[in-house]
Amino acid sequence: MIKLFQAIDFNYSGIYIYNMNKTFIISIITSAALLVAACGGSDTPTQETSAISNNNTASTESKNAISIPTEIEALLSKNTCTTCHAVETKLVGPAYKEVALKNYTAEQMVELVHKPKPENWPGYAPMAALPDVPTEDIIKIANWINTLK
Ligand code: HEC
Repeated sequence: MIKLFQAIDFNYSGIYIYNMNKTFIISIITSAALLVAACGGSDTPTQETSAISNNNTASTESKNAISIPTEIEALLSKNTCTTCHAVETKLVGPAYKEVALKNYTAEQMVELVHKPKPENWPGYAPMAALPDVPTEDIIKIANWINTLK
């Protein structure tokens, strides 16, 4: 009788251990799933981080823009100049600081934007003619460019 009891007891504890394991395994699976979910979730913050660093790059660029008066900055972006020109660095086109060194009059710059002379800038791709940019916009831009010397 005692032996039988012990056997039952053993069985019970065996089942208990089995159940424990089962619970344990389930909890491992659950936490694994949570981990995967957490990792999946952390993908988004990574993208956010890279978006933030992109923003940083943008804000580094806009550090240049800080020296640009708001009105001029608006004219430059409205007329797409910003795509190819920066204040101090060469992009597709020369830096405005370099353009300033050419000592153009505002009228000359109007001409050059409406009808570029690529021969003035060897080593650069020719600037696309922008005949639709309003003369008064270019005059304002030109006067500002000439303050950069
Ligand atoms: C698609 C690119 C691009 C855009 C947009 C662009 N530029 Fe240029 N720009 C250039 C390049 C390249 C040069 C140098 C080669 C040339 O003059 O053709 C240049 C040269 C210039 C020069 C010097 C011209 C000379 O002959 O010395 C001025 C001034 C200038 N750009 C002003 C502007 C202004 C203002 C705008 C916006 C209304 C503008 N650019 C838009 C690419 C561009």
